[in-house]
Amino acid sequence: MSKVFEDVDVAVGKCSHITHSLNHRASINTSSERFHNYLLKPAEVVSNKRLSEGLWRVEMRPISRECLNDVKPLQFFMVWIPSSDEIPLSVSDLTEDTISFIYKVRGLGTKALSALRPGSFVGLKGPLGNGFEVSYVRPSSKALIVAGGSGIAPVPYLIKKLAVANVQADVVWGVKSDAELFNLREVLPDLDVRVFTATEDCSAGYCGLASQLAVELLNEYVYSVLIAIGPKPILRSLCSVRLSGGLEFYVALEAVVKCGLGACGSCVLEPTDKLLCVDGPVFRCGDIKEHLMKGGN
Ligand SMILES: Cc1cc2nc3c(=O)[nH]c(=O)nc-3n(C[C@H](O)[C@H](O)[C@H](O)COP(=O)(O)OP(=O)(O)OC[C@H]3O[C@@H](n4cnc5c(N)ncnc54)[C@H](O)[C@@H]3O)c2cc1C
Ligand code: FES
Repeated sequence: MSKVFEDVDVAVGKCSHITHSLNHRASINTSSERFHNYLLKPAEVVSNKRLSEGLWRVEMRPISRECLNDVKPLQFFMVWIPSSDEIPLSVSDLTEDTISFIYKVRGLGTKALSALRPGSFVGLKGPLGNGFEVSYVRPSSKALIVAGGSGIAPVPYLIKKLAVANVQADVVWGVKSDAELFNLREVLPDLDVRVFTATEDCSAGYCGLASQLAVELLNEYVYSVLIAIGPKPILRSLCSVRLSGGLEFYVALEAVVKCGLGACGSCVLEPTDKLLCVDGPVFRCGDIKEHLMKGGN
């Protein structure tokens, strides 16, 4: 092997992000069906409303409704906001010709998104990632969904799909303070769902963490599946709970997603070699424990 190639090998070996992305680049699915998901499609903003302190809901109508086919709960889209940024957002709801996202205003991208008025255009790339397979859940059983903060964003679409599969859901939604809460029935008018809220400052609902309330519900009711969405500390503490046999446990993670296609390596879930954008965001708890236990937010 020439010296140049040896040096390149050493350099690549030192940079796990690059090796992960190179491995995945080789496996990017270029079938015409998947390839279509990687292209940016224009979508018109239909409405964009504030739901609570910091949380907004935007509804968009893509010019071609093809990207609305076969969207699984907890899949995401890269949303390109002109003159600003491209950010990953989970699908919050779908209709025949529109798609909605619930988002928390954090920085430049989400601030620019909140300023868009009906009639503005954005670009959508997706659906991306591995979503939640509703067909894996036993029909006529019950699911417990635990959401922390803006982890509530994909919950409406998840509940809708579970209901179609004849699975009833209870939702635990934990926030810091009641100012972040909104009435989930505003976005889920037709669904029969029990929503339990928890606030860290005890301003509404259960006084404490969503994970504590979830453990109380798990002791009281029988669920066949637990799906936790939100900040790493919530997922970590639930993943550490000794759960009764027969309960399937999934988590939906967040990480820094830049390309969303498995090409850049920014979303590697260290110390594993999994990439959030193609291997996730949904994982069985046991398959991603090493990453969750590593610490951080
Ligand atoms: C697969 C996936 C799905 C997502 N779905 C949703 C969703 O449905 N709704 C939603 O509100 N958000 C969601 N997010 C997070 C969302 O992408 C970020 O909030 C967004 O990219 C922030 O962009 P920004 O330009 O506004 O902020 P930036 O300028 O990028 O960041 C501003 C500040 O916010 C912090 N920040 C950025 N991202 C996060 C984060 N994820 N958690 C906590 N702090 C953060 C940064 O550290 C920084 O301090 C998702 C993320 C991923 C990876
Ligand atoms: S590899 Fe680029 S965001 Fe996942």
